[in-house]
This record gives sequence, structure tokens and C-alpha cells, in this order.
Amino acid sequence: MAQSLSRRHFLARALGATGAMVAARITAGISLPLLASACGGGSAALSTLGTINPNAGTLPIPPLDTGTVGATARVFSLTMQPGTSELIPGVQTPTLGYNGSLLGPTLRMRLGEDVEIGVTNTIGETTTTHWHGMHLPAVMDGGPHQEIPNGTSWTARFTVRNQASTLWYHPHTHGRTGVQVFQGLAGMIIVDDANADGLNLPSDYGVDDIPLVIQDRRFQSNGNLDYLSQMHDQLGMKGDRILVNGKETPTLNAPAQWVRLRILNGSNARIYHLGFSDNRSFRQIASDGGLLTTPVTLNRVLLSPGERAEIMVDLSADLNGSLTLRSYSSEVVNSLYMSGGMGSGMGGGGMGGMTDTLDNSDFDIMSIRVDRAAVNNPTLPVTLNTIPTLTASAPDRLFTLERRMGTFTINNKAMDLNRIDETITLGATEVWQVTNNHAMPHPFHIHDELFQILTRNGVAPPANERGWKDTVLLKPREVVRFIVQFKDYADATHPFMYHCHILEHEDNAMMGQFVVV
Ligand code: C2O
Ligand code: CU
Ligand code: CU
Repeated sequence: MAQSLSRRHFLARALGATGAMVAARITAGISLPLLASACGGGSAALSTLGTINPNAGTLPIPPLDTGTVGATARVFSLTMQPGTSELIPGVQTPTLGYNGSLLGPTLRMRLGEDVEIGVTNTIGETTTTHWHGMHLPAVMDGGPHQEIPNGTSWTARFTVRNQASTLWYHPHTHGRTGVQVFQGLAGMIIVDDANADGLNLPSDYGVDDIPLVIQDRRFQSNGNLDYLSQMHDQLGMKGDRILVNGKETPTLNAPAQWVRLRILNGSNARIYHLGFSDNRSFRQIASDGGLLTTPVTLNRVLLSPGERAEIMVDLSADLNGSLTLRSYSSEVVNSLYMSGGMGSGMGGGGMGGMTDTLDNSDFDIMSIRVDRAAVNNPTLPVTLNTIPTLTASAPDRLFTLERRMGTFTINNKAMDLNRIDETITLGATEVWQVTNNHAMPHPFHIHDELFQILTRNGVAPPANERGWKDTVLLKPREVVRFIVQFKDYADATHPFMYHCHILEHEDNAMMGQFVVV
């Protein structure tokens, strides 16, 4: 009873007054007409489902923000604000953004420096801003305990201890993360360091070093975003339109040379299996927490919500040519969503399913047009980074992901802001063993520290998963062991979070808290 009440409350808050009715009916287990259709046609009329929208424009590049260097810190200032954006050509959509109407600037900072980020909230409701992947004190983390009421500001101060990497920031509001991110609140962070500086990687921001925030959205026929209006959205909100940096299936104009793509899956729930239309290989050079030891040659990379991959693609022979970045989702749908039991009944793109049409197909993300000769001379390094080997002696700390009575749980518990689930000794190196006991995939994310994956179902992970990570995708019934050292930032009163990064699961209690003491 307590569970359904809190879930109903969550839905009501997410949806407003109409939502409360819908939520009550979902809780009662009654099927309902789709809100989108009730509103007149839903998104079908707008849809170019899975293919490049012929009217799509140029890929927007989020502004680069290096802050201002003050007396004691590099200072950034972010304002969370409402606005209107043209996500789809010709359609105006109410959105939220940082320092603008959508997404946010790419914050650029450097290992070793002190940073101060002021965040002002004018979105009309309480929010937070979390620095995903950043190693910092819990009280600066921007999780659900660091609330920023509407009309107020909050300042995060920390020393950058992360190595060169692609991180990001987004709201982490208790029960409201999904809806706030869906409306447009997210931005990228680039951390630099001396090692990366010395590698001659593509590093001309927006020219050959390209931030890509991939997100899917669903729209009502009036252009508004359509969030949690269908019963199966509770399993993870997926849209039928693919946006990159806030534009539908845009075109990147690129030089004929090695180009670096810093790819962030900023979607609420969709997993992408990325590759190029001509099936060319590319090199993954970095995972969530920094550069891999050596580039890994791939022609697909699987990216779940929250994860990042930096890839290098050689366009030197493509002058005046073009190619398409696509998601080859059909190749992985059967391994990501279990058939049998709940899976077969609800999958296959059917109503109320865990998968939709895009999950079961291959679809376009954006096109790349090679419109000019090389502008820089980056090269593919042989060696990228040194990654230490961690060892632990204590028994594994165990986590089980499940769905029970409609609530997503970790170790059979629903998130409780007033409960500390795990207490970790400062300096400890631990192995966390995470078991997915559910028919759908869950990306497991931890705050505070980066980790290294030791095994997937007892087997060493593939080469591109042997670097630093903060989010790991668990397929149905999969067991992942990762090792992590809790080096600093002891604080008995302010917890860090661990959770599923499907935002509707996170909001629906698939989260726990740990303190380092
Ligand atoms: Cu990107 Cu706790 O989240
Ligand atoms: Cu995080
Ligand atoms: Cu999940």
C-alpha cells in the first residue's frame, strides 16, 4: 500500500492534475486510453520515425564555457530557466535549459584546479544539479539532498580530481529527475589534463572535437513534450524522435581528417547500439571516466543512459562524401530484453511493452557531411593512458536489481532519503557485485568514485569496457562485478547515491545511498 501510494504521488507530481487521474488508474491496474491519442493524433502526424528528417538542420554545438578565473577558483555560473525551442523543424516546444532555453553550455575545467559553480533555479519548481562522474565531496554532489528551491541559488565548490574525460550535469531531484531532464536540463563537462594534452587528439571544440548529446523525445500534436502519458512509459520513457544536441537528426559538417565524437547518452531510458551506415570501423578512445589504455577498434558501441564513449572516426578519405551515424538496435534487442515471461508478453513493440518500434529496428541518429579538407592534423595515438590495477580482499558487496509489485528495487528496498543503505570505510577498495534479476536491462551508476569492471557473468569485459566507468549496463539476468576505491571525502552525514540511470526507474525508487566514513 505504501508503495502504490508513493508511486501515485510521484506520478501525480510528474504529470500535474490530469496525470493524477491517469496515475490512479495505472495504480489500480486498469488499462487506459493513451493520453497522446486523446489529445489528438499524438506524434504520428509529425513523425519521420527512424530516418533522417529531410528538413533537419545543422548540428548545434553547445557553447563552450571555460568560466572566469577568479582569485581562488575558476568560476562558472548557470541559470536553470524555461524557454521555447525548435527541437523539430517548424515546431515550437516549451523546454528548460541552463543559460538558455535548452540543454546547457559545455563546462571546461582542468585536473587540479579549484572550481566554483553557481546554480540559480528559475524553473518554477525545486530542482538540483548533479555533476555526473565527478569525484567530489558528497555535499557538493548535487544529488537529491542538495535541493535548490525555485528562486534560489546554490554553489558547488570543489577541486577537480578527475582525469581528462567527458562528464555531464543534470538535475537529480527526488522523484522529478526524469521529467526535468526530459524537458531539456542537461549539459556536458570536459575535463582536461597534461596526459591528454600531449596526445595530439582532435581537440578543436566544435570543429574536430564534437560533443554529441543523444536523446529521444515524444511530442504531443501541439508540439509540447509528451512525458509519461502512456502506461508503459513507467518502464522507461522512450520517445520516437531522435535529437542530437537538441535538434532532430541533424547534420554535422566535418573536415576530412580524424574527428573525435564525445558521445553522451542523455536519454531517459533508450539504449543505443551505435555504428556508421557504411559499417566502417572506428576507435573508442575513452569510456565514462577517461581515456582507455589504447584505442579499441569497433564497428558498434552500445551506450546506455548516462554512459559516455569518446570515439575517433577517420574521415580523411571522405571529402565531399557523407555518412550516417545510426543505432543498430535490432542487433541487440533480443539480448537486452528477455523473451519469455514478462518479456514476450510485453515486448516486440506491442502496447505496454518494454521495447518499442525503434528498439526493434535500426534507425538514424545524425548525418555527417565531410565538407572541407583537414583543418588540423590530429593522429591516432598508440597509447592513451595508464590505468592502475586495483585489488580488493574483502568479500563482495552485493546488489540485486528487481521489480517488485510495480516498484523498481535494489536489494528489495525502495529508495528512502532517510535511510543509509551502505557504510563504507574511507580508503577501502571494494568489489561490488550487481545482479540484474529482471527481464529488462538496467544501467547501474554510482556517485563519488569511478570503477573498473572486473567481470560480466564471470568473464572479463570487452576491451572497451576495461577503462574507468561510472555507469555499467546490466542485461537481464547478468551479474557484473566491479572494483572501486573510496579514496577520500569521508562524511557521515551526507550520502552519495547509487541507482539505475533509467530515470523513470531512479524516480520510482531504484536507488540507494552510501556514506564514506
Ligand atoms: Cu547521472 Cu545519480 O546520476
Ligand atoms: Cu551521477
Ligand atoms: Cu533500471
